[in-house]
Amino acid sequence: MLSNNRASLSTYALFTLAAIGLSTAGCSGTAAPMLGQSLTRFPEDAFPLPADNQASPERIELGRLLFFDPILSQNRRVACGSCHLPERALADSRHLGAALAQEQGGVLPRSTPTIFNVRFQHSQFWDGRADSLETLALMPVENVLEMGSSREQAVRDVAAVPEYVRRFRTAYNTEVDEHALRRALASFLRSVTANAAPVDRYLAGNEPALSSEATEGFELYFGKARCSRCHYLPLFAGTEGPSFVNTEFRITGVPERGQAALTRDLGRGGVSGLPESDAQEFRHAFKAPTLRNIDKTAPYMHNGAFDTLEQVIDFYDRGPEARGYTVPNLDFVLQPGPLGLSSEEKRKLLVFLREGLSDLSQLPGVPASVPSGLQPGGSPPAIE
Ligand code: HEC
Ligand code: HEC
Repeated sequence: MLSNNRASLSTYALFTLAAIGLSTAGCSGTAAPMLGQSLTRFPEDAFPLPADNQASPERIELGRLLFFDPILSQNRRVACGSCHLPERALADSRHLGAALAQEQGGVLPRSTPTIFNVRFQHSQFWDGRADSLETLALMPVENVLEMGSSREQAVRDVAAVPEYVRRFRTAYNTEVDEHALRRALASFLRSVTANAAPVDRYLAGNEPALSSEATEGFELYFGKARCSRCHYLPLFAGTEGPSFVNTEFRITGVPERGQAALTRDLGRGGVSGLPESDAQEFRHAFKAPTLRNIDKTAPYMHNGAFDTLEQVIDFYDRGPEARGYTVPNLDFVLQPGPLGLSSEEKRKLLVFLREGLSDLSQLPGVPASVPSGLQPGGSPPAIE
């Protein structure tokens, strides 16, 4: 919540000073471990697996097969992996997702985010309208633009494939039903993590893991550029330690793509069922997403407003006054105005984002075949 952010600012100011102190002290060997433990420890224990969905290799593999199997779609051509593409770090390369369920094409209202580290957030989607991965799992299946099927239909289709019947029996000791289908997909999603990037080795005390330019970029991230005040360490996302209990929505005032006008998307403020006061407070607020593997997931923002990381950095650097439109309730971190980064500083920040945050070691591959016998990863029409 926004009010919590204010409370945490002072904590971050302290850590920021620590980080800057490190660089000016220039004493190698001590920098990384001096950062507080909650900024470096990856928070598995803060996100326990649901009691009825503990992980096992059989469950994760079943979920992976379903993720890449177009059997979940009405037209038998769209898999989850048709939009969350392994070669794009499980995002896609489009400004807005493609409406793959529709014969006539078209676009989704928002861009496709990566699914890396979705385990480590309490709110799913740009606006957080799903609170668990089990809840989320069949939403794309039922979405008329995405997969165009229904829960009932998906259960029937999967249950008609003998290999799935066997695999559900082994993994969940049950026949194919909606609860098991949700759990299998969620189990797979939770397994897709990125926590072994160069910055993680650096934070663990291995300084050479970041080049000197990336190290300077990291100090900017933490200090002058203010990125870490919303994309918190160690997740580099809007879920903050040490408790990790809250995934935050922030108002950065991203433009409509290609226009000097505020996004029309209400984000968190448009989620149905919120109390009226929240709906007002969170107008145009979006989840602060993970920046891990950000090098691979262009374009950026909920609406693909920016094609490159350079443009994203410029957006933050220029500050709110330069935008040509006003942003009601702009986040307090952005209110002080332009960051005043030099072109050298912007370049180093970019080196850090590209080099420091990339980890594809747990990237799932498209299976060679899927139990339905359909095309693994789907066969969506070519678009663009
Ligand atoms: C047609 C493209 C498409 C398909 C198919 C698709 N997705 Fe997505 N996915 C998206 C888009 C776009 C969003 C963002 C929607 C939003 O935030 O409103 C998204 C968001 C998500 C998120 C939330 C990530 C985050 O950080 O909030 C998860 C998890 C996810 N999808 C999993 C799946 C699963 C599982 C399937 C298959 C059952 C699937 N997706 C099928 C396009 C797609
Ligand atoms: C006030 C909080 C805040 C600050 C400060 C902030 N961000 Fe963000 N960031 C967000 C939010 C919220 C979004 C999603 C906005 C949207 O989609 O409209 C975002 C989105 C992004 C994205 C796009 C991610 C994607 O998957 O499309 C990148 C890249 C990014 N920020 C980098 C940075 C960098 C670099 C800095 C520092 C220069 C920074 N951010 C500072 C809150 C913040």
